[in-house]
Amino acid sequence: MPQPSTQPFCTCSIVGTGSYVPERVLTNDDLSKIVETSDEWITTRTGIKERRIAAEGENTSDMASEAARRALASAGITAADVDLIIVATVTPDMFFPSTACIVQKKLEAWNAVAFDISAACSGFLYALQTARHFINSGNRKTALIIGAEKLSSLINWTDRNTCVLFGDGAGAVVVRRMEEGDANPPGRILSAVMGCDGSLTDLLKVPGGASAMPVTPENIDQRLNTIHMEGRETFKHAVTRMCQASEQALSMAGLEAKDVNMVIPHQANLRIISAIASRLDIPEERIFVNLQKYGNTSAATIPVALDEASRSGAIKRGDNVLLVAFGGGFTWASTMLTW
Ligand SMILES: CC(C)(COP(=O)(O)OP(=O)(O)OC[C@H]1O[C@@H](n2cnc3c(N)ncnc32)[C@H](O)[C@@H]1OP(=O)(O)O)[C@@H](O)C(=O)NCCC(=O)NCCS
Repeated sequence: MPQPSTQPFCTCSIVGTGSYVPERVLTNDDLSKIVETSDEWITTRTGIKERRIAAEGENTSDMASEAARRALASAGITAADVDLIIVATVTPDMFFPSTACIVQKKLEAWNAVAFDISAACSGFLYALQTARHFINSGNRKTALIIGAEKLSSLINWTDRNTCVLFGDGAGAVVVRRMEEGDANPPGRILSAVMGCDGSLTDLLKVPGGASAMPVTPENIDQRLNTIHMEGRETFKHAVTRMCQASEQALSMAGLEAKDVNMVIPHQANLRIISAIASRLDIPEERIFVNLQKYGNTSAATIPVALDEASRSGAIKRGDNVLLVAFGGGFTWASTMLTW
């Protein structure tokens, strides 16, 4: 097996993971009582069986903070050790302050600078890459990177095309600069790719509710403050871009698809994931899937899946792990790790 390249980013490692999902479960059968759909349709077209919905008053920052506490515990450090917090989300608690600032307060992480990143379902990998640059430049040492979403707040519960797809949750990782002497650190990031195509913004968006279309009774009546998506077009672009990004991250790391022990893809649709596995020629047992339990939680899917894969032993120390995401924008990103 070829040895992964340690260049150009060799000093940055994921040293802890954590996740949190709300207690309330919304099943496909529950949805079939709200819109004209069925468990059979949702399962065969998406692979999703159920999703979690935040409780009344449970906000993105609450889920983010709980996932972060679990990641800190897994890394064996305290909030005081953190000097950078990035929250990837498209469902911030409010326009401002950033959800990251609210998380800083909830964790009492007073030594950290904190800000949000908006890159839809690619947000977590965009945030991870941003943190790597802060760390590799020597500017910061210990980062808390969180993907957290309360997508239930953006769902049109009368639109069966979209309401069956999404859920709420949060995942977090602790990323640290490795010191000299850390010859074989865990969770070593080998390579990363980011991309976007802003000409396709209209295919997946929440058109209303922000400055271009402030909230009015009329646009609330038309549900313009909820998710609008061209499903088939989104599907095609997702497969193409996630395959390209995967191949680029592998190539940058000096690896091939056969060297990958586990792919942790963005969890949007099982058919998208199967198409990627087939095109990359990676057997499905080496693809981590948990979307049947949570649906698409946007920026949270990858950190939640990474935490579950790590805790369940699906990925082990030394495994080559490929993370790959796609989302509104369109945006895409991939990261190659040695766990
Ligand atoms: C949304 C998605 C599941 C729809 O699956 P699809 O096979 O493309 O289905 P279509 O949109 O072609 O719709 C087929 C039919 O099913 C119907 N349908 C859509 N949602 C339905 C539902 N929940 N239950 C029952 N029928 C449904 C449509 O109305 C359509 O009916 P028609 O043929 O009478 O018009 C699929 O396009 C998809 O997953 N796209 C990507 C979404 C995504 O991942 N977005 C996030 C990216 S980060």
